Amino acid sequence: MAITNQLMTMLMSLIFLLRIASFASSLNLQTGFYSNSCPNAESIVRYVMKKALIREPRSLASVMRFQFHDCLVNGCDASMLLDDTPTMLGEKLALSNINSLRSFEVIDEVKEALENACPGIVSCADIIIMASRDAVALTGGPFWEVRLGRLDSLIANQEDSNNIMPSPRTNASALINLFEKYDLSVKDLVALSGSHSIGKARCFSIMFRLYNQSGTGKPDPAIDPDYRKELNKLCPLDVDQNVTGNLDATPVVFDNQYFKDMVGGRGFLNSDQTLFTFPETREFVKLYSKNQSEFFKAFVEGMLKMGDLQSGKPGEVRKNCRVVNARHSHLLLEKEHM
Ligand code: HEM
Repeated sequence: MAITNQLMTMLMSLIFLLRIASFASSLNLQTGFYSNSCPNAESIVRYVMKKALIREPRSLASVMRFQFHDCLVNGCDASMLLDDTPTMLGEKLALSNINSLRSFEVIDEVKEALENACPGIVSCADIIIMASRDAVALTGGPFWEVRLGRLDSLIANQEDSNNIMPSPRTNASALINLFEKYDLSVKDLVALSGSHSIGKARCFSIMFRLYNQSGTGKPDPAIDPDYRKELNKLCPLDVDQNVTGNLDATPVVFDNQYFKDMVGGRGFLNSDQTLFTFPETREFVKLYSKNQSEFFKAFVEGMLKMGDLQSGKPGEVRKNCRVVNARHSHLLLEKEHM
């Protein structure tokens, strides 16, 4: 009996390893990936995103941000959506994410609708990609065809997220270096930062630049004086640092206002304004401030490139975006004890 059990465990582990081997190579992402297996996948995502827009316009910005925080940390694999478990610290509590990433419930709603229509078919990693695209298109930005066919990770990595994701203090040259590691160019960096055309940020993210930029005890000189007065009022020294301000002057419309604000010294985050201060990035900021269609074109290119980042690690299609499927968690535990 014991031998049969052992044999069964070995067989299951072998099947598991074979599955890993077949997933470990890079996935071949393609447009229309679900056209046979779940023909309504893209319209279902769009429908839920439209409902989210009506319920709370900001949630579209919050969901679009997921693509950045997912794809930079071990590829676009929805690792960022996993909740903590007793044996794994998730990425939700990583430095750049804690008290900041929000609207996870929108992804849950999309997933539930997709599981009802075609169970076990559409990955959470693909949902992030489709939902981010829709967030942009539904708020006035460009529409583009997305490449799909990603798998969801079996683990999350809080430490990697801590080490990789940039802080709001980061300057343009550090951002250029970071993006370069992912084969994303200076142009991609500036265009993708234009995502801050929608959404909000907390006072927490700008206190240093208002009151003690680079340890000087003074504000960031790049801030326009009138705008600084507005920011001081929004975020006085004793403020609850969870109070939020708009990332640009038109925070629910995806447009090139963000770049116009930058040229006027009205960038909210240091990491935004620095793109105008530094010569390598400045020309792109100027160009996009004058030419919205150039911005849209470059933004789409950047989102596609960022969306292609992959870890090459094993994956699955999760049933619930917050947890790995029971079979995999069971086998992973068994492997640990072997
Ligand atoms: C270039 C480096 C970037 C840095 C340093 C950065 C940093 C930040 C910070 C600090 C916040 C506000 C967090 C808070 O105060 O709670 C924020 C918000 C946001 N970020 Fe970024 N970000 C970057 C790039 C991107 C990219 C590439 C995207 C998407 C493609 C993105 C999308 C967003 C959105 C939409 C929001 C607003 C979210 C909301 O309203 O909930 N960011 N970012």
